[in-house]
Amino acid sequence: MDENKFRAEFSKKSVFRQASSLDFSYVPDTLYCRDETIKELIHNFRRIIEEDMQPTINILITGKGGVGKTVTARYFGKNFRTIALENNVKIFIEYFNCINFRSKSKIIRELLAKYTHGSGRGFSDDEAIKLILSKLIRDKGYILLIIDEIHLLKPKEVWALLDIAESYGHQNAKLSILLISRTKDWMRIETERILSRLNSKIKLSPYNYEESLKILKYRTEIAFKDGVISDDIVEMIAQIVVQHGNMRHGIEILRKCGLYSDKEGFDHITADMVREASDQVYPTFRGDIVDKLNDQELFALYGIAQSLLTREEPYTIVDDAFEQYNIICETYDMDSHVKMSFRKYVRQLDELKIIATKTVRINENKRGRHLEITMLDIPPKKLLELLDNIFEKKFQ
Ligand SMILES: Nc1ncnc2c1ncn2[C@@H]1O[C@H](COP(=O)(O)OP(=O)(O)OP(=O)(O)O)[C@@H](O)[C@H]1O
Ligand SMILES: [Mg+2]
Repeated sequence: MDENKFRAEFSKKSVFRQASSLDFSYVPDTLYCRDETIKELIHNFRRIIEEDMQPTINILITGKGGVGKTVTARYFGKNFRTIALENNVKIFIEYFNCINFRSKSKIIRELLAKYTHGSGRGFSDDEAIKLILSKLIRDKGYILLIIDEIHLLKPKEVWALLDIAESYGHQNAKLSILLISRTKDWMRIETERILSRLNSKIKLSPYNYEESLKILKYRTEIAFKDGVISDDIVEMIAQIVVQHGNMRHGIEILRKCGLYSDKEGFDHITADMVREASDQVYPTFRGDIVDKLNDQELFALYGIAQSLLTREEPYTIVDDAFEQYNIICETYDMDSHVKMSFRKYVRQLDELKIIATKTVRINENKRGRHLEITMLDIPPKKLLELLDNIFEKKFQ
C-alpha cells in the first residue's frame, strides 16, 4: 500500500457515530431495564451520604454472563459519586477487576499507592489498610470499592475485605464494597462467614425480548449514524440475545458488523452480516479476559490450542501442550519457562475458565494420573486466530 491508498482508506466514510461506545468498558448515560437493581443499590448505599456515621455497606451482585452486572455497578458508581459530591460528601469510586488484581494484597497496594502515594513496600496488608483508612478520615473521604470477578480471590481474602469494618472499627472504616460475580462462580466461594458480612445480595436475570430490543435500539443510536441499521435488523439481533441470554453477544455483533461495513465500504448493516457476525461470536468465551493475560499465560494458551488442533481427541495433555508452548516461545524469541511453571499457567487459565481441565486415572494398576485439558467455549482454531492477532500487535 502506498501513502495515497492509505489516505484514501482513511478518509472512507464510516458507519459509526461513536465506535468506542461499543467497547467493553463503556458506561451509557442512560441505563435501561435495570431500574429495580439501581433502586435497590440506592436505598442500600444512600445511608453513606445521609448519615454522619457513614456506615459500611457490603452488597453482592450475581447473575449469568452478559446480564449487565458490570455495567450496572459502574453506572451506579458514577452517578452515586455525582450525587454525593452535590451533598458535599467526598466519595471515591474504585473499580477493580480481579482478572487484573488477583489477590487482596494487590488491591490494597494499589489503593495505598493512590491514596497515600506510598509504594506499599514493607507494609503488611493490615498496616496498609490502617494507613488508607486514616488518610480517608483525615481527608473526610469515603471509598466505594467495586470488585468485579470476585471469585478469583480466595474465600479467605473475600472475607477479610468484607470484614474490614469489624476489624478496624465501624467509626474508622470509611469504606463500602460492591462485589460482582457470576452466580455459578460465586457458589464456589460462598461461605456462612462471608454471607454474614453482606447487607444484601442482588441477582440479575437475563433480559427478555422487549428489554433486549430496547437496550439494543438505544446502543445502536449511540454507536451508528442514522440509517445504518434498520429496526428489522435490531429485532433480529434482539432475538439472538434472548436465545443466549447474553447482552454481550448483541453488542459484539453490532461492533463486528460495523467494522465489516467500514472495511468493505457498505453504508448499512444487512441480515447476512448479522448472521456471519453471530457465528463468529462465542457468547460464553471471555475475549476480554484473554486481552488481559500476561505474556507467559498467552503463550501457554497458544500451546494448548495448538496441541488441541493437532490431536485426534477432544482434549490434550500437559506434555503435548508444553511442547507446543516451547515452539511458540521460540517463534517469538521469548524465554520459555520450566514445566512446573507451565502447569501453574494451565491452572490459572483453568481458574479463569478459558480452558477446562480434569484429572483422569490412566492406569488401574499403577497410580498414574494425568490432566486432560480442553476448550469448551471456542474452537481452538478460532482462538489461535485471535492470539495470532494479539501477538502481531504485541511482539512485532
Ligand atoms: N441495561 C443495559 N443497557 C445498556 N447496555 C447494557 C445493559 N446491560 C448490558 N449492557 C451491555 O451488554 C454487555 C454485557 O454487559 P456486562 O458486561 O455488564 O455483563 P456482565 O453481567 O458483567 O457479564 P460477565 O459476567 O460476562 O462479566 C456490555 O457491553 C454492556 O454495556
Ligand atoms: Mg462483568
